[in-house]
Amino acid sequence: MKIINKIALSVAVASSILLTGCGDTAKVAAPEVAKASISEESLGLRKTDLYSETFETVGEETKYSTAAATTSETYERAFQDAPPMVPHDVTEYLPIKISRNACLDCHVPGVAESMGALPYPPSHMMNFRPDTNIASDGRIELNGKAVDNTSDEDRSDVSIKKLTKLSGSRFNCSQCHAPQSQMKALVENTFEADFTSKDGASKSSYVGTSLTDGLDTLIK
Ligand code: HEC
Ligand code: HEC
Repeated sequence: MKIINKIALSVAVASSILLTGCGDTAKVAAPEVAKASISEESLGLRKTDLYSETFETVGEETKYSTAAATTSETYERAFQDAPPMVPHDVTEYLPIKISRNACLDCHVPGVAESMGALPYPPSHMMNFRPDTNIASDGRIELNGKAVDNTSDEDRSDVSIKKLTKLSGSRFNCSQCHAPQSQMKALVENTFEADFTSKDGASKSSYVGTSLTDGLDTLIK
């Protein structure tokens, strides 16, 4: 009996959709459909409806750490070899400019240790960029010769080079290392990192060639 009722009901609903759906879109929002919908307040991170922009519709305040460098507590890494988040105030150090990168004052190897900061790691002194250049006529040049296709089989256009100083691709520290707002998380994070090295929560594990081991790419 119950099954018959359900079938009868779905036929009725389907036919009402068909009837209202033909040519008259205003009637498509039948009361049955409205009842089954999800409330607007529950849709997003904001807890007000989508049409209101009153003072109640404001996000949590962004509140970065104001602790000065050398007095802050570092965060646990998000996962093994994740870029560490910045625990200290950075307002005096940003923006990073080609003529001035204050982060280097304290994080350059050789100085960092005496500041109680970690030096930027060996991975930041490697060039992973292709050997190609764009010539003045717009063509791609590899080792001084114009090439049509940079993805040849021996991958000679891509090589990893160890540098003696910071790679230009790592110059803009705040591209990867961001400060964290200390307000309540809007969505609970249940992710738990499974660190593969003993001190993975506080230290990069790349030493020696471990970053490039197993890569087919040419290492110069
Ligand atoms: C005045 C020196 C100083 C300057 C300038 C500085 N830092 Fe730091 N930084 C530190 C110290 C010291 C720590 C360790 C935490 C502490 O003692 O406050 C640290 C910690 C960090 C960490 C966390 C490392 C970890 O192990 O979790 C990151 C990331 C970082 N800084 C990035 C930056 C960036 C990016 C800049 C530039 C915008 C910068 N720092 C500028 C001294 C400095
Ligand atoms: C393209 C992204 C990127 C940029 C740009 C970048 N980093 Fe990193 N950084 C990382 C990642 C990923 C790690 C962790 C893995 C590793 O060792 O490479 C890291 C690790 C670090 C560490 C922790 C080292 C350790 O031993 O645990 C410090 C300190 C650091 N970076 C400082 C800097 C500074 C200072 C700059 C700017 C001069 C910078 N980084 C630019 C991605 C970046």
